[in-house]
Amino acid sequence: MIDLHSHLLPGLDDGPEEVSETLEIIKEMSFLGYIEIVPTPHKFHTLFNPDPNIVMGRISALGKTMVRRFSFEYMCNIPKIKELSDHREFSRTKNGYKIIMVEFSPFVGKKEIENSVFSLNAGGFIPLLAHIERYLKDDEFWLELKKKYKVFFQSSVRTLAKASFHIKKKQVIRFLEKEIIDNLGTDLHRATQLESVDKGLTFLKNNFAGYGKDLFSDKFLFENS
Ligand SMILES: [Fe+2]
Repeated sequence: MIDLHSHLLPGLDDGPEEVSETLEIIKEMSFLGYIEIVPTPHKFHTLFNPDPNIVMGRISALGKTMVRRFSFEYMCNIPKIKELSDHREFSRTKNGYKIIMVEFSPFVGKKEIENSVFSLNAGGFIPLLAHIERYLKDDEFWLELKKKYKVFFQSSVRTLAKASFHIKKKQVIRFLEKEIIDNLGTDLHRATQLESVDKGLTFLKNNFAGYGKDLFSDKFLFENS
């Protein structure tokens, strides 16, 4: 399994402050079955805007681990994303599109999401939209968006660790039933959240064992774009 969403690098954004906690997270993630973690520090958050060289330095300081590369989680601000010269995309498609992870404010409207995806595509980007259950839009909206634009969807595996009546968990279950999402990330910030990753993975195994898509790979970034 590969994790494409986390904030586990020390002293960068709202993740661990100490290297020791980062190393503990990496060790526990390998016990859970992960073979690679691609950290995604926040970018253009009002508080966080790390220099790529500093991020790479944090990775080197960990020594030889399953963290080898990184991308960013961009707070959606189209003009600012376009201005960047070093985007640190996850990958590039054959047609030259850069695949980057994007989040919105929790109160974003449908029109704004659609306009953003349109502008990103026009600017040469394919967004992987992070934790889409956060925005609580109806399933049809996401299906239509995918039909009209180049876009990938990610949910958080930790949402599946929530109580069964939780509205966001119900939404992720519907996404899974309709095969709307392409990837499940951990969005892990602290070692204390590892238990919810474990619980979410167990829920998935118990309820969606025969799921058609590989939700823990980065292959979809290359195959479907
Ligand atoms: Fe995140």
